[in-house]
Amino acid sequence: MQEANRLKRLPLYLFTIIDDLKKRARERGVDVIDFGMGSPDQPAPPHVVEKLCEAAHITENHRYSRPDGDVERRLREVIARYYQRNFRVALDPSTEVLPLIGSKEGIAHLSLAYLNNDDIALVPNPAYPVHFNGVIMAGGILYNIPIVREKGFLPDLENVPREVVKMAKLMFISYPHNPTGAVCDLKFFEKVVSWAHGKNIIVAHDLTYSDIVFDGYKAPSFLQVKGARDFGIEFHTLSKSYNMAGWRIGYAVGNSTILKTLAKTKSYLDFGIFRAVQEAAIAALDGPQDCVARMVKLYEERRNVLVDGLNAIGWPTDKPKATFYVWTRIPIKYSALTALEFATLLVDEIGVALAPGTGFGDYGEGWVRFALVEDSERIKIALKKIKQLLDQKS
Ligand SMILES: Cc1ncc(COP(=O)(O)O)c(C=O)c1O
Repeated sequence: MQEANRLKRLPLYLFTIIDDLKKRARERGVDVIDFGMGSPDQPAPPHVVEKLCEAAHITENHRYSRPDGDVERRLREVIARYYQRNFRVALDPSTEVLPLIGSKEGIAHLSLAYLNNDDIALVPNPAYPVHFNGVIMAGGILYNIPIVREKGFLPDLENVPREVVKMAKLMFISYPHNPTGAVCDLKFFEKVVSWAHGKNIIVAHDLTYSDIVFDGYKAPSFLQVKGARDFGIEFHTLSKSYNMAGWRIGYAVGNSTILKTLAKTKSYLDFGIFRAVQEAAIAALDGPQDCVARMVKLYEERRNVLVDGLNAIGWPTDKPKATFYVWTRIPIKYSALTALEFATLLVDEIGVALAPGTGFGDYGEGWVRFALVEDSERIKIALKKIKQLLDQKS
């Protein structure tokens, strides 16, 4: 049985390779220290879990979710309030807010909703994989904009050829950025808005990591810029801010026409979010936020232990101002290896799993990503093992 060409066009999913290596190491009895996937290790806040349990006992919540339902309306209102409180962005809850089964779902379906076979989508590279895989799955043409450390991992839009821009229908951006941990200021968003103005390109900003920020940095919303809403939407999620990754709930906000088209696409494909999860999301977004501050503190401590530790053992690494990722070049000693070869070596030799940079696109070659989802003690153990490896005479 032949799988569809759209699947064959997708790049190799490198995480499955690393997963296999981890599995084999664990079968050999190795306690793998796993910095691979960005799946938070902490629990969702207790009051949110309680709300889920309470709502799961209500029979009405077991039915299909309906856009005009009561909990659905309350969730949209709470999301609008969250935006007002956090970003001073006013949203109409009935037309400018669309809940999603996780932001990944919405990002993939946005490409499906808008791209025809000869439409180009502009995607910075490296990127969170669904930004480009969604384009490929939808049958669109992917145009990678390289982003490099020397330019703060921000795309140089003026360098995109005019013919490409003419055929472009969609562009993804995302700051704070996975995998690089790069951040931007409002000025960058203003530049994007003035560049995109009049070009008929949808700008989709992925704001997944807005809450996970350090050193006084505050992540702006793309929608804070005047005019952004003319062609822009923004994705957000409860997965990271409230450790609800497995619960599958996120949302898109912004341009009402784009959201309507996205909702139309989804109406053919899914039945929305379990209502008990929606009730729990309301409790998370509208409830006390000290749990978020505690989580950020924990990631900050882990970031410091890891980055200071790597630098101390001779692996030069930048300290990110946001996200729970540390993005760093392969150590000089191993610079002849590809990112995948180096990540493979680390699992096989010392039981430390990382994400190879090429899992996020070709421009991730030469880099690896640590996700800060192991505690500080285990980070210290990993550092010792890495030091031994780096100190070994080859
Ligand atoms: C940049 C980015 N966007 C979206 C997602 C997906 O989040 P969700 O759980 O809401 O689908 C992730 C998950 O790691 C991510 O890093």
